[in-house]
Amino acid sequence: MNQYGKNLILGSFSVGVKILAIETSCDDTGIAILEASNNGDFNVLSNIVSSQIEIHKKYGGVYPMMAKREHQNNLVPVLISALKQAKLLSLFNSAELQRVKASGSKIEKQNQNFKTIEKILEREMELYKKIIPFLKKYKKPNVDLIAVTNGPGLEPCLWVGVNFAKALSYFWNIPIVPVNHIESHILVNTLENNIKFPAIALVVSGGHTQLVLMKGIGKYKILGETRDDAAGECLDKCAKLLRLGYPGGPIISKLAAEATDAGLLFYRSPASVKLPRPMIGTKDYDFSFSGLKTAVLYADRKVKLKNAKYKKEMASEVQQAVIDVLIKKTTKAIRDFDVKSLILGGGVSANQELRKQFQNKLEKESPDTNFFVPKLDLSTDNALMTAITGFYHKKNKKDWKNIKAESNLRISSIK
Ligand code: KG4
Ligand code: ZN
Repeated sequence: MNQYGKNLILGSFSVGVKILAIETSCDDTGIAILEASNNGDFNVLSNIVSSQIEIHKKYGGVYPMMAKREHQNNLVPVLISALKQAKLLSLFNSAELQRVKASGSKIEKQNQNFKTIEKILEREMELYKKIIPFLKKYKKPNVDLIAVTNGPGLEPCLWVGVNFAKALSYFWNIPIVPVNHIESHILVNTLENNIKFPAIALVVSGGHTQLVLMKGIGKYKILGETRDDAAGECLDKCAKLLRLGYPGGPIISKLAAEATDAGLLFYRSPASVKLPRPMIGTKDYDFSFSGLKTAVLYADRKVKLKNAKYKKEMASEVQQAVIDVLIKKTTKAIRDFDVKSLILGGGVSANQELRKQFQNKLEKESPDTNFFVPKLDLSTDNALMTAITGFYHKKNKKDWKNIKAESNLRISSIK
């Protein structure tokens, strides 16, 4: 993904800040390195994501403590790959290593530093065991700022990333900027676009569903959000109920596309069900998806022959029910606030049908609204979005001692 960014004219890019970003809010371990010019042009040096899907598949969902263990195993190897790809990984040479070994005071200083790191990582001992050999072997990279997702997300997972960031920050003496995960799902859209404000952002992920009014970067108001399950969580739970596999979102999306291709949507079998569209007509901007899961459960009990055709039909109906509600509430917000742009973000925004139907709706009803949606691999969790958001908030940089994970962090608390 080198040399990839907005307004990037090769040769005229002058680096303002180089950011190392860490994202571990759920089940993906992400590290990215981003160069940003002072006027907000970006050059992506690396963006590595290590997915834990294969591990969580066996259990049909993410168990936070299991995800924490995987982050501990993955962070150092992912950091090495990210630094290598960015050409920022360099070994201490043997003369430098000898110099430390030969000097008692240098050894003592190093041991003291490692003791502090042990304290920082006292709840992540597996990570501690991996970071020490790494710090002994490789030099401090040429990086100005560390950005880390500090919330919202799964608490034990957030803490691994935050404590990893603290350990690196302390050892390398690089400040940290804490990043809100929801905001980063939105701001990833600025990688290649100049967004006109005011804008409405719809964040739809496994953990969140929020409609946000944006007056500019850093100026937000949450208009509405889910009262129970998130959109992605609903897709994952429905897929589990229908025994389709994990993670549900991409599987439902694939089956629904097959249903469309096979014309099943137009020639429904007697077994086909119509699911509710919860809260679709309410005047607020809130959502509720847990009823959909219950409706799927009852509908599924009534069907005897659960063949491939049935599964495709159900997948397409579940997906359409979610899409209908998301589009209705979002287009209402676009009209009510007369905004210039619509921004999508989060794992569910990778859904092709959702993208297509939003696009069609906007073309028909508000053709002047600009529509932004991330590239597929930037819809789901990654650290590049953390780096980009860290850039906009670089003034919030802090000493490592003042950073903590906040699993319920709210976007509106960002000024
Ligand atoms: O943003 P994300 O990677 O992690 C969270 O912050 O939660 O979102 C993950 C969610 C999961 O619920 C997954 O099923 C859903 O995004 N997802 C999709 C698709 N790809 C991922 N949902 C619908 N269609 C997709 N293609
Ligand atoms: Zn996410």
